[in-house]
Amino acid sequence: MVGEVTPTIQADAEQLAQAAADFITAQVRANPHLSILVATGNTPMPTYAELARRVEAGDVDFSRATAVQLDEYLGIEDDDPRSLWNWMRRSFVEPLGLTRTVRLHSPGQFGAAIRDLGGLDLAILGLGPNGHLGFNEPPSPPDAPTRTLALTPASLESNRAYWGVAVPAGAITAGMDVILAARQTLLLVSGAHKRGVLHAALRGPETPEVPASFLRRTALTVIADEAAWT
Ligand code: F6R
Repeated sequence: MVGEVTPTIQADAEQLAQAAADFITAQVRANPHLSILVATGNTPMPTYAELARRVEAGDVDFSRATAVQLDEYLGIEDDDPRSLWNWMRRSFVEPLGLTRTVRLHSPGQFGAAIRDLGGLDLAILGLGPNGHLGFNEPPSPPDAPTRTLALTPASLESNRAYWGVAVPAGAITAGMDVILAARQTLLLVSGAHKRGVLHAALRGPETPEVPASFLRRTALTVIADEAAWT
């Protein structure tokens, strides 16, 4: 039986970003070669902006770290505005000054790249409104591998909101097996619309219906704002 996890609660999304940036800063200071799985989505953007501010100020250095892509839509061109790779590049890789990246092209290529890195040191994750991690849609068991899959109607809807236009129906995601093997996991959750799913993930049963519930098997830090928890 895996125990309950209590998040660190911050007053609002801005305080969440400060706390998350503190956590990530400490990790990269302890290990400049940190390999980091990087979520896109709305939640971590203020955190990445705060990290960029610290890099700019010379407080922290990510130049020897490696950024690893978590997920992507299928069938889009490199210059497509919806590309999650481009979102990650614009929000994390370039402003933080990383020079090493692993892009998610195919399960075989990705698995080899993760092995070459010696595994992931840190996974920065958001929580899908349906409990997904990356694009590990429910149901996803803990051994779900890196794979292509069809997005659920819930994810098609939440992802459409990013761009104001429909997203492709297919995606590729780092597997649950890769995420759960990260040496540290950091889950960031903001907003009242995530409250139910966050409680299910941290307090409910472990279940493939809430893939994030398996994070309790990992060295997990959860930072949430008050709206998402209380
Ligand atoms: C994005 C990703 C997704 C999001 C999740 C939450 O790379 O992996 O799992 O983290 O859908 O998205 P937001 O933060 O926009 O609520």
